[in-house]
Amino acid sequence: MKLFTYILATLILTPFILIQAQNGHSYIGVEACAMCHKTEKQGSQLSIWQNSKHSKAYETLKTDKANQIAKEKGFSTLAVETPECLKCHVSGYNIDASLKGKKFKVEDGVQCETCHGAGSDYKDMKVMKDKDLAIKNGLVMHDKLESFCIGCHNVESPTFVDMNIDEAWQKIKHSVPKTQN
Ligand code: HEC
Ligand code: HEC
Ligand code: HEC
Ligand code: HEC
Repeated sequence: MKLFTYILATLILTPFILIQAQNGHSYIGVEACAMCHKTEKQGSQLSIWQNSKHSKAYETLKTDKANQIAKEKGFSTLAVETPECLKCHVSGYNIDASLKGKKFKVEDGVQCETCHGAGSDYKDMKVMKDKDLAIKNGLVMHDKLESFCIGCHNVESPTFVDMNIDEAWQKIKHSVPKTQN
C-alpha cells in the first residue's frame, strides 16, 4: 500500500516539480526588455505593444463595465481583484513576490513576458543573441499562432469576439527588420 502511494506520488509530483523548476525564472518587466527592443532598427516592439490593447488590459479591468461583468458572473470582488479575470488580463498576479523584479508591474497587463516567458535568465545580450540558448533559459516562442492566441481569445472571455487570428496578428506583430546584406 505504502509502495503504491509512493509510486503514485512520484508519478504525479515529478512532472510537477520539473515544471516548477523550469519556471523558476523571474519577471523583469517591460522597461527592461524595451532597453533593447524599442528602436526602429530593432523593430519598435515597445511602441507597437504600447499602442496595442494588450498594454491596457489591466486598466480595462478597472472600468465600470468590467465590474459590471464581474458582478454578473457572480463574483463579489472588483474585476481587478478577481483572479478569474486577471488570469487573461495580466501576468504575475499570482506568483511569489521573490519572482517579481523591482521594475515588474502587473499594471502593464498582457506584456512582453506574458507571451515570451519570464526574462531574468535570457535577458543578457549573449544569451539573447543565441535563440536556442535563450529558449533554454526561459524564452518562449510561438510557431503556431492560432493555438497560442486562443489560450486567451476564447469563449471563456465574457466579452468574447471571434477574431481572425491572422488579421489580429497583423495588428500587433513586431518583427525584427531583416538586415540587408
Ligand atoms: C541586452 C539587450 C536585450 C534585452 C534586455 C532583451 N533582449 Fe530580446 N533580443 C535581443 C537581441 C540582440 C535579439 C536578437 C534579435 C535581434 O537582433 O534583435 C533578441 C531577440 C529576442 C526575441 C526573438 C528571438 C529570436 O531569435 O527569434 C524575443 C522574442 C525577445 N528578444 C524578447 C525579449 C523579451 C521579452 C525581453 C525582456 C524580458 C528581452 N527580449 C530583453 C536583445 C535583448
Ligand atoms: C494572456 C492572454 C492573451 C494572449 C495570450 C493574447 N491576448 Fe490578445 N488580448 C488579451 C486581452 C485581455 C485583450 C483585451 C485588452 C483590453 O481591451 O483591455 C486582448 C486584445 C487583443 C486585440 C485587440 C482587440 C480589439 O478589440 O481591437 C488584438 C488584436 C489581440 N488581442 C491579438 C492577439 C494575438 C494575435 C494574440 C496571439 C499572438 C493574442 N492577442 C494573445 C489577452 C491575450
Ligand atoms: C479566457 C481569457 C479571459 C478571461 C477569463 C477574461 N477576459 Fe476579459 N478579455 C479577454 C480578451 C481576449 C478580450 C478582448 C477580446 C474579447 O473581448 O474577447 C477581453 C476584453 C475584456 C473587456 C473589454 C471588452 C470591451 O468590449 O470593452 C472587458 C471589460 C473585460 N475583458 C472584462 C473581463 C472581466 C470583468 C473578466 C472576469 C469576470 C474577464 N474579462 C475575464 C480575455 C479574458
Ligand atoms: C500577445 C503576445 C505577445 C506580446 C504581448 C509580445 N509578443 Fe513578441 N512575439 C509574439 C509572437 C506570437 C511572436 C512571433 C513568434 C514566432 O515567430 O515564433 C513574437 C515575436 C517577437 C520577436 C521576434 C521578432 C522576429 O522578427 O523574429 C521579438 C524580438 C519580440 N516578440 C519581442 C517582444 C517584446 C520586447 C515585447 C514587449 C514590448 C513583446 N514581444 C510582446 C507575441 C507577443
